[in-house]
Amino acid sequence: MKSDSESSAKDADYIASSDFADVPPLVKGNHNYEYTLDPSASAFAGTTVSPNYGSKVTNSDTCFQSKKETKKGAVVGLDDEYEPFDYSKLHCEDPEITFFATLTTYLSYAIIIFFGHLRDFFGKRTKRSRYFSEKEMVIEKGFAPIVKVAENFYTRRLYHRIQDCWNRPITSEPGSVIDVVVRKSADGNKTLRWSTNESSSNVEVETKRCINLGSYNYLGFGDDWKNTCKDYVWEVFDDFPINTLSSRVDIGTTVYHRELEETLAKFVGKEAAICFNMGYGTNSATIPSLVGKGCLLISDALNHTSIVNGSRASGASIRAFKHNDEKDLEDVIRESIAGGQPRTRRPWRKILCMIEGIYSMEGEICNLKKIVEVCKKYGVYVYIDEAHSIGALGGTGRGVCEHTGVDPKDIDVLMGTFTKSFGGMGGYIAGDKALIEGLRKNCAGSVYHNSLSTVVCKQCIVSLKIMMGLDGSDMGQQKIKKLKENCNYFRKKLTEMGLHVYGDYDSPVIPVMIYNPAKIAEFSRQCFERGLAMVVVGFPATPIILSRSRVCVSAAHTKEQLDYALVKIKEVTDLLQMNYKKHLV
Ligand SMILES: Cc1ncc(COP(=O)(O)O)c(C=O)c1O
Repeated sequence: MKSDSESSAKDADYIASSDFADVPPLVKGNHNYEYTLDPSASAFAGTTVSPNYGSKVTNSDTCFQSKKETKKGAVVGLDDEYEPFDYSKLHCEDPEITFFATLTTYLSYAIIIFFGHLRDFFGKRTKRSRYFSEKEMVIEKGFAPIVKVAENFYTRRLYHRIQDCWNRPITSEPGSVIDVVVRKSADGNKTLRWSTNESSSNVEVETKRCINLGSYNYLGFGDDWKNTCKDYVWEVFDDFPINTLSSRVDIGTTVYHRELEETLAKFVGKEAAICFNMGYGTNSATIPSLVGKGCLLISDALNHTSIVNGSRASGASIRAFKHNDEKDLEDVIRESIAGGQPRTRRPWRKILCMIEGIYSMEGEICNLKKIVEVCKKYGVYVYIDEAHSIGALGGTGRGVCEHTGVDPKDIDVLMGTFTKSFGGMGGYIAGDKALIEGLRKNCAGSVYHNSLSTVVCKQCIVSLKIMMGLDGSDMGQQKIKKLKENCNYFRKKLTEMGLHVYGDYDSPVIPVMIYNPAKIAEFSRQCFERGLAMVVVGFPATPIILSRSRVCVSAAHTKEQLDYALVKIKEVTDLLQMNYKKHLV
């Protein structure tokens, strides 16, 4: 038991932490940044300028501080030895789907859809279908069914046929090796049941030990957590509850939140940071508090759904530019600035460019240098989601800025998540002090959401300190180095096999293209049989003909594990004729 004085000292910590009363409001003056647009300037040559467009436009409504000029080479935290990623030289173009693969993929979908409709047709009439039996067809009088999976043709006739390839339960920690539950279906895959060995006293779930090539366990904390983080995380329980039962601005800020934010800001090279209880929620709650009506978001065409949903919820206008294409970005910016807001043609209140460090379905690294150049030229703020790149890219794991040699000061909003490299949960925004203080006061994630659990905070602090070498060892550095070696080794070998591999070297996300819907399931099942846990992804997460297996490599994978996986993947891809570079199909 703690004495009264001890616990009141702790309380004081809690209460003192919500002292944000003097924070300036987010969207108000407090800026010294202006852009002036002159339609006759050479940058706008060839652009149609709206007749209502004023010749001089000053953006006087922005919450950001000025973009400070940065000295050449003065990149915060950049490892001197680190060779920056030169996109124009080092970027790997994604292979093109072959004509034959396109044809057979569409044909396969046509056949599945045709037979699906045929089965629906007879099923509805005979009521002898697992989706249209008497029991299934009962509808409460006067009410439309609130949830009815059977209404969805795609779910019924496409997804259910192969649903055993997704949502596989595991019974071990999500390390480089996992125990995956074996499931069976008694109703044509509509529902799945765990396979069990029952004795009189015990029910044992049947599992299969697999090499895990699907988790975002980039730095391997899923494997060594008990030896690296557990003791420190466990200590939190002595002093703090798991849940502060409060939002950040009330009494949900603890010393751990502060420590995490301060350490993180230092790590990524920004003045300040704020953490949230969910990565998805970080985007979806932050974007609406930064922009609204009269603002413009110019978003990469392949951005994550959390960015898309946050953008839609903000009420700002949204325009997409071709994935990772700075030329198209420039065209969209020029056209948008010249045209102004819809109908009124007034200038945009502010413009943000939304991008990601590593695109999670493509494994592609952002063309950051060029994109930042374009954004600087037109006075467009840069918002970057580093969910997959923080901890994974750069000589010291500082993410895509370090990897591409871009000064973090040139990025206005640096977002990331703790769910990948950190082995934790939640997300963060790092930026200038004014931005972060504004978010503390105005962002729903800070004002209305429950604050990030103290236990998770500690996990993120510990893993971050390991990455930074503040634990006094070089373990973090070794992990970052090993991850890079593993990623590049695996990517090279898969490419040499003749597979269609997307993305760039150094990226821990390695998509292997499958294309054909019949092969999605067979690839997953054949790999599972051989002891490989693979993630397969299809429509609607990808365009309909671009199904793929998304391999995620970890620093915890050993060379032996990777070699075993490569041998097995070769067997499966030969069987399924997936070496598109060698075969026609
Ligand atoms: C690019 C990107 N942003 C945000 C998120 C959401 O993160 P979380 O899973 O931590 O909520 C993800 C999830 O994978 C992601 O890939």
